[in-house]
Amino acid sequence: MDSNTGTDKGGETPRKKFYITTPIYYPSDKLHIGHSYTTVAADTIARYKRLKGYDVMFLTGTDEHGLKIQRRAAEENVTPREYVDRIVSGVIKLWDLMKITNDKFIRTTDDYHEKAVQKIFRKLYEQGDIYKGEYEGWYCTPCESYWTKSQLLADGKCPDCGRETELTREESYFFKLSKYSDRLIEHIENNPDFIQPASRQNEMLNNFLKPGLEDLCVSRTTFDWGIPVTFDEGHVIYVWIDALTNYITALGYMSDDDSAFRKYWPADVHLVGKEIVRFHTIIWPIMLMALGESLPKQIFGHGWLLLDGGKMSKSKGNVIDPETLVSSYGLDAIRYFLLREVPFGADGLFSNEALTARINSDLANDLGNLVSRTTAMIDKYFGGGLPAGARSPRSSPGAIKEKPDIELKDMASALKDRVENLLDSMQFSTALTEIWRFISRTNKYIDETMPWVLAKDEENKPRLAEVLYNLAESIRIVSVLILPFMPETPPKIWSQLGLAEADGVISWESAGKWGIYPEGPVVSRGELLFPRIEIPKTS
Ligand code: MSP
Repeated sequence: MDSNTGTDKGGETPRKKFYITTPIYYPSDKLHIGHSYTTVAADTIARYKRLKGYDVMFLTGTDEHGLKIQRRAAEENVTPREYVDRIVSGVIKLWDLMKITNDKFIRTTDDYHEKAVQKIFRKLYEQGDIYKGEYEGWYCTPCESYWTKSQLLADGKCPDCGRETELTREESYFFKLSKYSDRLIEHIENNPDFIQPASRQNEMLNNFLKPGLEDLCVSRTTFDWGIPVTFDEGHVIYVWIDALTNYITALGYMSDDDSAFRKYWPADVHLVGKEIVRFHTIIWPIMLMALGESLPKQIFGHGWLLLDGGKMSKSKGNVIDPETLVSSYGLDAIRYFLLREVPFGADGLFSNEALTARINSDLANDLGNLVSRTTAMIDKYFGGGLPAGARSPRSSPGAIKEKPDIELKDMASALKDRVENLLDSMQFSTALTEIWRFISRTNKYIDETMPWVLAKDEENKPRLAEVLYNLAESIRIVSVLILPFMPETPPKIWSQLGLAEADGVISWESAGKWGIYPEGPVVSRGELLFPRIEIPKTS
């Protein structure tokens, strides 16, 4: 993302664009917290880039075709379209609940997408990159699925249902992946940011690209819930060509109005789970090369949220419902936990214990207490507002020379840059850790300065005001820096601290400045930001 970072000062240059995507989710079932994980991460980056002044396009959506969905619909005696419509309306509600700020939601059943995919398929066929051949694989009739020999169980049976498979041939279209593999290897080697984290880059090169690519089967005749090949009845376009192209069809590629495509493409980052990195770093770039379009700047493969040692899946019955979590613990607590608990890229364990521990220690104790103690003290000692002059330590003898003040100010002033650097490389967890280190430092400042002792002597009033000013200022900076991660908490803090957007003190840029908490706002004690979760005692 190197070429896209940097600030757009004072609006002199045109706003830089930033295009970020999530995978499009299969609406075969309700989405679970694992899917929310990818989307919350993408949303955090989108919010961050908007705060920095970028013209952001944030895309998510649903991947609605294929045999699995056709079957699920049949099981419920509804049409595939009825089935996906029901699930997709739940997906849209979930993203609303989680305050996801996507600019567009694409469904692969949208008419404009289907038309564009058909045009893309035809173009690739006409230029000879797609050809008709025969697909050979081990077919499981009850599952209607093909497997390669290496995917079969040791006794040659179906890995899904354990029944007999049969070597079968089917007429299919193929995409010439092999033709472009040298170009892709060169691109990956010359662009170390293209596949992140770096470990995934080695995996793609050494395990897939260098051993040689087989051409990819891109059509099927065994099911019909898909986009038909316009020039060969009975063939539907197989999932990956239909799915991956969403990133460009959503921008109007191959439609009458492709201005969004020309504005936002190439994507700055495709955020994907680790199991689909291969499709995004091999098939997708090769499709783009064949179409003569530029490649996305980065594909970032994150790890999985695991539960009881395994990946969440509906079939295993170990899914966690994000709606239940949000209604029990609050949205910001869940968003915080998802991004703080696990370094992005690695796998991590989801557990109620870990979630409760984070809420109680980081949110209720560290941040929540800091805000409630500070507002309570301003209210108690100054009747709801700091006196004029609280901000100007130089006027109170000896004040700025206090070591805790200097440390607090230095740490605060460096924080925004640190958080930006970490967010620019998707290190959500470390970025939050840095913010919370500062929160701890601020809490320590209260212990060091002991405002309740200062309050005992009228002569110390200027120093007391200054200490509380420094606390309010630190909280202001924190409230801005957590904005990309936690959309609900900052406005609550602003109302308690009496801050308003118009004053320019809660813009992203303002988080890099110390000493701009204004004179005069009315501070009020508000609701607790994060109530503690009582942990039931286990014997
Ligand atoms: N439809 C394809 C993607 C096509 S993109 C052109 C697909 N869909 S999916 O619904 O199965 O998964 C979508 C994303 O959700 C993947 O990135 C996947 O890694 C992510 N997750 C699903 N379960 C997850 C966890 N338990 N943890 C983290 N991410 C998980 O694949």
